[in-house]
Amino acid sequence: MSASIPNEFIDELLNRIDIYDVVAPRVTLKKAGKDYSGLCPFHNENTPSFTVSQQKQFFHCFGCGQSGSAIRFLMEFEGLDFVDAVKELAEQAGVEVPLKQVNKQQHRERTNLYAITEKVTRIYQQHLKNNQKIIDYIKNRGIDGKTCQTFQIGFAEDSWDGISKRFPQDQQELLDRCGLLSHSNQKSYDKFRNRLMFPIHDRRGRVIAFGGRAVDDEQQPKYLNSPETDLFHKGRELYGYHLARKHSSEDFVIVVEGYMDVVALHQHGIKNTVATLGTATSTEHIALLFKTWTKVVFCFDGDSAGQKAAKKALLTALPLYLDDKIIEFLFLPEDQDPDSYVNQNGQHGFLQQLQSAVPLSQFLMDIISEGIQLNTLDGKAQLHERAKSYLKQLPHGAFRQIMHDNVANISGITHARSKKPNQQKRPDNGQLNPMRRLLSLILNKPALCEKLPDDLDFTLLPYKGAEIINKMIEIQAGYPQINSAALLEHFRNSDYVSNLSRLMVVYDHMDETELTSEMDDLVAHLEQLTTTSKINQLREKQLQDGLTDQEKQQLIALLTKKIK
Ligand code: GTP
Ligand code: MN
Repeated sequence: MSASIPNEFIDELLNRIDIYDVVAPRVTLKKAGKDYSGLCPFHNENTPSFTVSQQKQFFHCFGCGQSGSAIRFLMEFEGLDFVDAVKELAEQAGVEVPLKQVNKQQHRERTNLYAITEKVTRIYQQHLKNNQKIIDYIKNRGIDGKTCQTFQIGFAEDSWDGISKRFPQDQQELLDRCGLLSHSNQKSYDKFRNRLMFPIHDRRGRVIAFGGRAVDDEQQPKYLNSPETDLFHKGRELYGYHLARKHSSEDFVIVVEGYMDVVALHQHGIKNTVATLGTATSTEHIALLFKTWTKVVFCFDGDSAGQKAAKKALLTALPLYLDDKIIEFLFLPEDQDPDSYVNQNGQHGFLQQLQSAVPLSQFLMDIISEGIQLNTLDGKAQLHERAKSYLKQLPHGAFRQIMHDNVANISGITHARSKKPNQQKRPDNGQLNPMRRLLSLILNKPALCEKLPDDLDFTLLPYKGAEIINKMIEIQAGYPQINSAALLEHFRNSDYVSNLSRLMVVYDHMDETELTSEMDDLVAHLEQLTTTSKINQLREKQLQDGLTDQEKQQLIALLTKKIK
């Protein structure tokens, strides 16, 4: 929190260090006039629009609009919060950070929530000890006591108040804020009942949420997760990450789909394993993993759902696939998941299976050529077209070039020859800024407007188009079933219509589900961007004129939202 470090110290620090020394080890920079330029690390681009000015000690991307000091760069690049970024810089500069009183109330509130989740974890563990049926269930699944301890696995009693009765009245609200209560008709009761409980830990090993597995066959849903809370944001957390990180000496990490998969692999000594929490793999997940490991192996069940999830993970990973990183995909035999496989074949068997993981390049080629008859001319042209849309999403570098050559070899079409005159250039979603992606998604499926949070303020974004988006939202709200063409019609007299129609084709290749999940990713991204720019605005004002109490509160709330 910025309030905890004196501004004078920050001024001094930014005076002492050189932003070039901070950026250069992380981004390849070339001298360009008085500044440096390179490919922006914050968005996917082919030509450098990222510049670093030593004179201003400032970085700026003309493409995505990210900009700021060395502190901001470290925050964004390393995923650090403000204080940690300052600490890291200070360390480089060889000075000590004078920490002021941290904001006490803020700190106390979070501490209170952790205290609740820790206590609930212990209660669940106690319930487990007292329940032979559940102990048998766990044993049957091959988990021993030590692994149970490591993961703090517990049991939520089959009771409406097994947890809530253990907390005094004045702590019920905290329980609620931890996502542990359900409500109906003014009554509150335990959310998790009769479930095997997997605490979800943050990077520092604190319990921030729970996943609960049904223990009776007829119980629905099979897994119930905590809702999003102040402590828990699904898209950012990975189950088992805090344990896997202790095994960062391994050069790879395995990403699986389920809690039980992580637990079982761990039990068999394969501890560099994490799971996404019932959500698709996000870019944040991948970026986080690459901070610690150079290789990520996605492991999917050998069924069609697994194939689908793998494809989604591939698309998410493409823009982050830098030459010094490795991504592999492991497909287990039909009807097996990592849990069942390692239980049947042991550590050795699983590690052997891991050898058959296919590199991203191969999986990508498989997807690109899926269903195409490569021995026909049509097929070759089709391959070439399809490849273009995928390969564009890769960052510039050797790998991208190799993939291009590969495709050219197979299709017999080289880049130069394929350019037909007057060919309409089809924008690709990887190249679009978030605002245009949003426009494009809404144009493709207007009902997606309903996924936009009310408080998302598009005018905070450094992109054009806020009024159009707002207009579209208004139009869609007035006529929820409106289709794309009709929506576009509303703009027929505007200057934007040709742009809008071009944007309409960007997502042609996606089906409804893919569009929806793309929208979910985008909303998360937009929330982050608007939060960041609001924070920047307030920080600016803080330096210039100071903040009112209300603005301070707002800043704190925004920082909390961003940091956690
Ligand atoms: P076991 O059946 O206990 O071995 O679990 P599993 O991990 O094999 O389950 P499955 O392959 O069905 O699901 C994988 C992951 O998806 C789970 O670990 C959950 O995170 C999530 N998941 C599965 N079913 C549900 C559900 O009904 N609701 C939610 N929210 N998530 C689920
Ligand atoms: Mn399973």
